[in-house]
Amino acid sequence: MAQNTRIVLDNRPTSEATPGNFKLETVETPSLKDGEVLVRHHYLSLDPYMRGRMNDAKSYAAPQPLGEVMIGGTVGEVVESRHPRFAPGDAVVGMGGWQQYSVVDATQPGALRKVETTHVPLSHYLGAVGMPGVTAWYGLVKIIDPKPGQTVTVSAASGAVGSAVGALAKARGCRVVGIAGGPDKCAYVKDELGFDDCIDYREHKDYLSLAKALKQACPHGIDGHFENVGGMVLDAVMLRTNAFSRIAVCGMIAGYDGQPLPMANPALILVNRMRVEGFIVSEHMEIWPEALTELGQLVGSGRFRPRETVAQGIESAPEAFIGLLKGRNFGKQLVKLV
Ligand SMILES: NC(=O)c1ccc[n+]([C@@H]2O[C@H](COP(=O)([O-])OP(=O)(O)OC[C@H]3O[C@@H](n4cnc5c(N)ncnc54)[C@H](OP(=O)(O)O)[C@@H]3O)[C@@H](O)[C@H]2O)c1
Repeated sequence: MAQNTRIVLDNRPTSEATPGNFKLETVETPSLKDGEVLVRHHYLSLDPYMRGRMNDAKSYAAPQPLGEVMIGGTVGEVVESRHPRFAPGDAVVGMGGWQQYSVVDATQPGALRKVETTHVPLSHYLGAVGMPGVTAWYGLVKIIDPKPGQTVTVSAASGAVGSAVGALAKARGCRVVGIAGGPDKCAYVKDELGFDDCIDYREHKDYLSLAKALKQACPHGIDGHFENVGGMVLDAVMLRTNAFSRIAVCGMIAGYDGQPLPMANPALILVNRMRVEGFIVSEHMEIWPEALTELGQLVGSGRFRPRETVAQGIESAPEAFIGLLKGRNFGKQLVKLV
């Protein structure tokens, strides 16, 4: 029986998450019952939503229970199967958590999905052709709904979600302007992802200064904005929005450690007759097939080449996760487990 090293949530953070919130332990993988599949994880996905689950607070999802394996998306290979639809060697994506192996009840709809790795590398099923990509698709297509020639902005533009928003908006003929932290991320967003422009928010001391830079980059104003960050970035964008513009509120990472993120000019929602709508991608399972098809085509054809930051080994997950919450990742944050 394989030894499984895993990370559980040991205690809850009081402000910033720390490595001391997690505990590493090794257990034996259990033997399989009928309908179950043993998966060896190749990659674990680290995502900002995990920070919210660490709190015992009212949210759209239940808190991560203490002492249990941290929640997380995984890709890997089937090593043993007692389910007729899965065989050893199959490449699969699931929610295996922060551990090297998982036993999955494959009779549960959607618990485990087979994927093909001929055109799309396995790790991308946790990023551009997985949950973050579908998140980008939903916010852009269903909320912003941009028309060719319109200007779309996106914050955390070099990240897993932000980079996909850019690729999808370019494919729809939009002018796309990113907002990201630092010159390297901005150069990547423009030169490799093909955005029309990218603004380094760290060069601006306040939202008024950032709004000036946005005015230059968006000479016809902003028709749609995809928000991943909140705070100063959102305040600056709001000042440059056009009448009947749309904001897809996807994330507010600047406030995930618990600090309030006040909005400077909410009256602009009225003045500009804006649509400001939050969403949770897992509540829109009906759009996943369509979104994954488009994202798979963009990645498979090389028109969208997403970037990854890969930490090595399960024990590196807590530090890598804390780095993600501080913007130290560059593209999709993964942990390689084999
Ligand atoms: N609503 C949904 O269903 C849903 C689903 C998935 C993800 N999300 C949200 O989408 C957003 C992006 O997620 P992702 O997985 O693509 O992550 P990511 O963008 O790959 O990584 C997070 C990035 O946030 C940026 N950031 C900006 N301000 C920050 C601040 N004050 N503190 C820390 N980081 C800051 C950093 O980039 P810079 O260095 O450029 O600042 C960092 O690299 C997150 O807010 C996440 O919660 C929502």
